[in-house]
Amino acid sequence: MAEPKKLFIKTYGCQMNVYDSERMAEALGASGYATTDRADDADMILLNTCHIREKAAEKVYSELGRFKGLKAEKPDLKIGVAGCVAQAEGEEIMRRQPLVDLVVGPQSYHRLPAMEAKARAGEKALDTDFPEEDKFEILKDRPKARRGPTAFLTVQEGCDKFCAFCVVPYTRGAEVSRPVDRILREARDLVARGVREITLLGQNVNAYHGEGPDGRDWSLARLIRTLAEIDGLERIRFTTSHPNDMEDDLIAAHGDCDKLMPYLHLPVQSGSDRVLKAMNRKHTAESYIRLIERIRAARPDLLLSGDFIVGFPGETEADFRDTLALVETVGYGQAFSFKYSARPGTPAAEQEEVPEDRKSERLQRLQALLNEQARAAQESMVGRTLDVLFEKPGRLEGQLVGKSGYLHAVHAQAAPEMIGRIAPVRILRAEPHSLAGELAL
Ligand code: 5AD
Ligand code: SF4
Repeated sequence: MAEPKKLFIKTYGCQMNVYDSERMAEALGASGYATTDRADDADMILLNTCHIREKAAEKVYSELGRFKGLKAEKPDLKIGVAGCVAQAEGEEIMRRQPLVDLVVGPQSYHRLPAMEAKARAGEKALDTDFPEEDKFEILKDRPKARRGPTAFLTVQEGCDKFCAFCVVPYTRGAEVSRPVDRILREARDLVARGVREITLLGQNVNAYHGEGPDGRDWSLARLIRTLAEIDGLERIRFTTSHPNDMEDDLIAAHGDCDKLMPYLHLPVQSGSDRVLKAMNRKHTAESYIRLIERIRAARPDLLLSGDFIVGFPGETEADFRDTLALVETVGYGQAFSFKYSARPGTPAAEQEEVPEDRKSERLQRLQALLNEQARAAQESMVGRTLDVLFEKPGRLEGQLVGKSGYLHAVHAQAAPEMIGRIAPVRILRAEPHSLAGELAL
């Protein structure tokens, strides 16, 4: 057999890109590629990119610049750009950085092997279509290796919400749900390969409405309950959700589906109704707070996570204080917060920006509060015994790390055979980025 060619993939941005990178590696596996974690060792470099904020997109060009030397040394090296920058900028990428051989948008990954062949033949390959066929379907029969205990599974892609700041509806396209049978097949296959926890992914995952085996559209809750019947699958999570799609059946599932973990990422973006309206979020601070109350009534110990944007065009100090007030009222165990970043082509990009130093100052204040809450959530675990799914060796000798149901990283002394198993751990201390515990078997 020929020596495998080597593929280096660097992934930016969200978990869906992580999932897509795995699928791209599988697709190119059929063209004789094995993955490597060293760019200087590769025959093909793929950057799976993110366009959500300006900084994320610019990183791609600086990274590409760094490959100049490599390409000069190794003329056969092929360089590709995938993901949302590829979708948004297309051919422009090759104009700006001529060393790029291949540009592939997120809906065309099943066409990668053909594109790779074209690039090998010395031609530029570009595909940013939104084709009809399911990009994951072609991959289903590939031989698959044993997997770690946790995996992502994309069930829905795209978004029809058009928040005024967001590029997703343009880069990932309209909302599409994968059919139930394909998801179940993929989930069973993952479990057979050692996976114990699956995180269902979608840009708007709780808007899921894929076709069920009965020909009807299934909700995310129904999908979760059916997945929960798979023996050997112990834990289910999903991300990311929109408040307006949090239907009653999904709230109920948080209360009575044991395999659904007590963690929910439910972005609110702002606590000011004026800003929420300008963002085209179609919910208010009050309706969000009421929704959280209903979810917590179903699952009182739920750990809530969120996304926030500060300095959206027109945001005043009073608007920003409304965000702080909402955070105080809701209480987050974890959160992501960002300075608004104007994205070309989005409605908000037309509006006058809040000065940079004001954005920075607000971000600092918001993060101080969110960090305090995250810390308190971690501290509240000390003394409790939590089920932990062990994932890999820890930093210290004899240690393993895994996740609690609340998605906190937990480390404890445990034998390597415990990897892939769930065990009770008594939490002893909260450390900056994890919890320290001991097995309570
Ligand atoms: N500027 C800053 N943050 C943004 N997000 C999305 N678009 C922008 C933008 N233009 C944030 C939102 C979203 C998360 C994935 O990224 O908070 O929920
Ligand atoms: Fe973007 Fe999420 Fe709004 Fe869709 S719901 S436009 S992905 S922020």
